[in-house]
Amino acid sequence: MHGLDRALRFVLPLGILALLATVLLVGWFVQPDRYAQGRSVPQPIPYSHALHAGTLKIPCLHCHSGATRSRMAGVPAVSVCMSCHQVTRTERPAIQLLAELQRTGKVLAWNRVHSLPDHVYFDHRPHAGAGIACQTCHGEIQTLSVVSLRMSMRMGNCLGCHRDPRTALPKESPIRRGPEHCNACHR
Ligand code: HEC
Ligand code: HEC
Ligand code: HEC
Ligand code: HEC
Ligand code: HEC
Repeated sequence: MHGLDRALRFVLPLGILALLATVLLVGWFVQPDRYAQGRSVPQPIPYSHALHAGTLKIPCLHCHSGATRSRMAGVPAVSVCMSCHQVTRTERPAIQLLAELQRTGKVLAWNRVHSLPDHVYFDHRPHAGAGIACQTCHGEIQTLSVVSLRMSMRMGNCLGCHRDPRTALPKESPIRRGPEHCNACHR
């Protein structure tokens, strides 16, 4: 076999493959942290969804009432926690910290797990209004003691559902598609 022949048949394709693999690997590892599946962040208080939304069955909207009223689902104010913790588990350090914040009127600075880049527009209202369950996007939050990122925050994931949302919608829903034009999500 000719040297050039061999180069074309084996070395070149292998070279291209290696290059592609490198590009993909590097791309994967340098992707912004906000897209990393399973990502979780430290919180000032060890609040557990498994306990409150799972065992105690407190409805999601009790604490995230923004989801049906505004773009943001929002995190609850300390007063929402204190409606129970005025009397519940008051001897615990975490609850004493809550009480202290309530007394001083300070806000509890929860750290964000989900965050889209600024150039993306997302609104909870049309999604909650269409009857899409929180869990369809966020995963089984009521089983997690620490919130972690369970959904893909990528454009392809938004568009995938917008093209065919049937499985995410209630059976009787008249909605067939979500918007796909660029300025629905980039305003
Ligand atoms: C509807 C009532 C209710 C609300 C609202 C509520 N909690 Fe609780 N929480 C409980 C109960 C009940 C327990 C104790 C469960 C157990 O230990 O069996 C608890 C336990 C806890 C604990 C564990 C304490 C320990 O060390 O055992 C923390 C921390 C906590 N809650 C934080 C919060 C925060 C933060 C909020 C607001 C975002 C909140 N809770 C809202 C009822 C509530
Ligand atoms: C008792 C109040 C309470 C209830 C009930 C509750 N949450 Fe939360 N949720 C919080 C608090 C406080 C945080 C911020 C701390 C954290 O991330 O754990 C939070 C954080 C979240 C986040 C992450 C926000 C971010 O930073 O990206 C999601 C998603 C979420 N909740 C969804 C749900 C869903 C879905 C349910 C119902 C199954 C639910 N929550 C029920 C209090 C509550
Ligand atoms: C169609 C998918 C989808 C559904 C359904 C959905 N969310 Fe979200 N949620 C998101 C996305 C995307 C973000 C990040 C938004 C951003 O960064 O601007 C987010 C962010 C959040 C946050 C943190 C930031 C904020 O908006 O305050 C909370 C809390 C939250 N969602 C709770 C809920 C709850 C509770 C429900 C159900 C009532 C729900 N979500 C339904 C996709 C969804
Ligand atoms: C699980 C399915 C699903 C996912 C995932 C989803 N959407 Fe949607 N979205 C819908 C449906 C269905 C509608 C149409 C609702 C209607 O027609 O009432 C919609 C509507 C919208 C609208 C239109 C709001 C308006 O005011 O017209 C925007 C903006 C939007 N989605 C952004 C996003 C973004 C950004 C993401 C990804 C981060 C996303 N969606 C992920 C199902 C989804
Ligand atoms: C349903 C919502 C939605 C629609 C419709 C949509 N995008 Fe996006 N787009 C996103 C989200 C979410 C991101 C951020 C996540 C990512 O980069 O994958 C994004 C990111 C981007 C980026 C930045 C990519 C990067 O690497 O930073 C570009 C460019 C873009 N979109 C262009 C478009 C164009 C052009 C259209 C119309 C053909 C469009 N988008 C329609 C949701 C959407």
